[in-house]
Amino acid sequence: MRYGHFDDDQREYVIERPDTPLPWINYLGTEAYFGIVSNTGGGYSFYRDARLRRLTRYRYNNAPLDVGGRYVYVRDDATGDYWSPTWQPTPERELDDYECRHGLSYTKIASSRGGIRAETLYFAPLGETLEVWRVRVTNHRDTPAELSLFSSIEFCLWDAQDDATNYQRNFSTGQVEVVDGVIYHKTEYRERRDHFAYFACSEPLAGFDTSREAFLGAYRGWDRPAAVERGSAAGSIAHGWQPIGSHHVRLSLAAGETREVVFLLGYAENPRDAKFDPGSQTLNKTLVRPVIDRWLRPETVEQGLTALKEYWDRLLGGLRVRTPDGDTDRMVNVWNAYQCLVTFNMSRSASFYESGIGRGMGFRDSNQDLLGFVHMVPERARERILDIAATQKETGGAYHQYQPLTKRGNNDIGEGFNDDPLWLILGVAAYLKETGDLALLDEPVPFDNEPGSEVPLYEHLRRSLRYTLERLGPHGLPLIGRADWNDCLNLNCFSDTPGEPFQTTENATGGVAESVFIAGQFVLAAKELAGIAGLLGRDSEEVYFRAAAEKMAGSVAEHGWDGAWFRRAYDFYGNVIGSGENDEGQIFIEPQGMCILGGVGIDDGLAQRALDSVAERLATPHGIVLQQPAYSSYRIELGEISSYPPGYKENAGIFCHTNPWIMIAEAIVGNGDRAFDYYRRLNPSAREEISEVHRCEPYVYAQMIAGKDAPTHGEAKNSWLSGTAAWNFVAITQWILGVRPDFEGLRIDPVLPAGWPGFEVTRSFRGTTYEISVRRAEGATGRVTELLVDGVPVAGNLVPVGAPGAVVRVEAVIG
Ligand code: GLC
Ligand code: GLC
Repeated sequence: MRYGHFDDDQREYVIERPDTPLPWINYLGTEAYFGIVSNTGGGYSFYRDARLRRLTRYRYNNAPLDVGGRYVYVRDDATGDYWSPTWQPTPERELDDYECRHGLSYTKIASSRGGIRAETLYFAPLGETLEVWRVRVTNHRDTPAELSLFSSIEFCLWDAQDDATNYQRNFSTGQVEVVDGVIYHKTEYRERRDHFAYFACSEPLAGFDTSREAFLGAYRGWDRPAAVERGSAAGSIAHGWQPIGSHHVRLSLAAGETREVVFLLGYAENPRDAKFDPGSQTLNKTLVRPVIDRWLRPETVEQGLTALKEYWDRLLGGLRVRTPDGDTDRMVNVWNAYQCLVTFNMSRSASFYESGIGRGMGFRDSNQDLLGFVHMVPERARERILDIAATQKETGGAYHQYQPLTKRGNNDIGEGFNDDPLWLILGVAAYLKETGDLALLDEPVPFDNEPGSEVPLYEHLRRSLRYTLERLGPHGLPLIGRADWNDCLNLNCFSDTPGEPFQTTENATGGVAESVFIAGQFVLAAKELAGIAGLLGRDSEEVYFRAAAEKMAGSVAEHGWDGAWFRRAYDFYGNVIGSGENDEGQIFIEPQGMCILGGVGIDDGLAQRALDSVAERLATPHGIVLQQPAYSSYRIELGEISSYPPGYKENAGIFCHTNPWIMIAEAIVGNGDRAFDYYRRLNPSAREEISEVHRCEPYVYAQMIAGKDAPTHGEAKNSWLSGTAAWNFVAITQWILGVRPDFEGLRIDPVLPAGWPGFEVTRSFRGTTYEISVRRAEGATGRVTELLVDGVPVAGNLVPVGAPGAVVRVEAVIG
């Protein structure tokens, strides 16, 4: 069952009814000011950091679901009837029609009731720290209508964590000012904050409110605010408690008339020595007032929208595919690329599942997200790499997370996730392959942000590799530390206390737990670093890195192979995990993917054997589960993985992030049918028709789909912010379609499903545009056998770097 449809021309997903199984959200903002917005107007806004600079409140885990957002009530002043055109928070008041269009960084929600149509467009313009709500109200009756609009938001007192916990203080700190129809939220501005929020309206006000209790009435909810019911605002000024913003505007609409009202919600900063009007505690508004005036004008709003559209045309224009599969085209050309950019901006901070409070930027997460956006925003990827690398320690170890606002490593979580450092090599390699910008390697980057400790970035990469080599266990495999990619395989933790965090609780000492996953990742990273050393002419280092990769591959073959698949790990006691010897958790997906990505087992058939085991034991119609059999009880020596009920999350859920590794591995061994089949099982657009099962948004990937051991098999959770976005993008574009940036040029190495006659790709690469067409020779099942670059045959499958600005025609034949 579907709840909407894709409008491919507009690049929008159109939701046709408000009661989607879960809130289906979208993101506003592109650089510094952000918000999440659901299909019923729910969500919140923040400036840069979803925890420390939260503008508006949102209550997760609320009942009803998803109440709290950017609401505009419409009231028919003749009858007293009122409703919210976004359905929430007045779902009892039925709408005659409803439509939500989630587009690229904007959302439009339109509906009608009793002949009055209201359409609200939400977006955050480029280069500004504000969001626009453009409300268009049309009177479709054949008589005039006397209407009121009431806007509403609930301010957050900046630090979302404190706001949701420290009530003894924050019930007393709230402060606002209302001047010339603009509501200013200035809690803590009187002391150490130099920033404030504002909420403005383009029309003369009939009234306003800033106290939640005055607006809603005591013991009343957003479904029936007293001010709206009455038809007049109270003119309240909040002193402590819950500051809100609400404007009351009256509209008289002739039959058939449309009126437009603009609301602005924004964030502003003042210079510390000019915070107040001279000699007072009144906010200095000289900087912000012109911004407000400009954005309240309809023509500025129009220009802002056009600029936003052009921004997305530019970002998405660099890679466009035309394949025989519509779901592939739609995801690659629009939605998957969009999701990759969102993960770039958000990391794992703010979604319907991530509260914006808990997690900063992940070291490994950000490096992997980069794989999906580096081709769209290379300069920002460069910046991101330097930020991430600056949180690395001199030992080569890395903070697991850092705060986006301070860019400092997060001490609460600390380090010791032994896969982390290697991801930096993989992120940098992806950047270099895309851009050819070797100068990045010379950039001075500090350790742990300590001024004076700078060394060239290249040295950071060497330390990453050394970090692993200095931490090998009895089988010559890398020690796992707190965890590897799978944060929930905590082999040194041994927690028996409820609520203790598995990742940060003191590890047992003397552990020898080893990870076959990190071993595979090391082989891959060492080969990449060897490639980089080669580019720099550091020949002896190249040889050394290759030898290290070989040696590790040897340890994997010797101690990491279980007979029909790669093992997962050795635990604290040296017992094998992910083996036929185990009663549960016999086979895991991660080492199958990562070892083959590293090139282990390709020549001797182990890779093929492992992939057959994945197909037999892990694959389901909804995707590939993380391991089998699921752990049926808690195992202290394994940690969090066994804390989840079977089929969920890391305990045999379909942890989507890992599936593309298998798609890539299948492509590496040349099995296009299987690779693409796995791709389609996860593709959200291909799952649209089972939305009642999948339940999450059909336009973006989710982190997890419940596995076959779960009663809700097929149900997705944790949509949007997941490495799944980047890896699926890489799997389909670089390995199945096979258009893959490499150090020396653009590789064309498709591995197609049998039914495809070919496909076309337009790809910008280092300033050149490549028009690529791939054709399959009758009955052929292999790889590229013929390559023409501007009509000239080229040996192999590498298209050399072209002239900047040129358009190059590439024809490839699969023979
Ligand atoms: C979450 C984390 C990621 C981890 C994964 C598997 O997605 O953000 O870092 O690799 O879970 O545990
Ligand atoms: C929890 C989640 C896991 C995530 C980790 C991050 O363990 O289950 O997916 O990686 O938290 O801290």
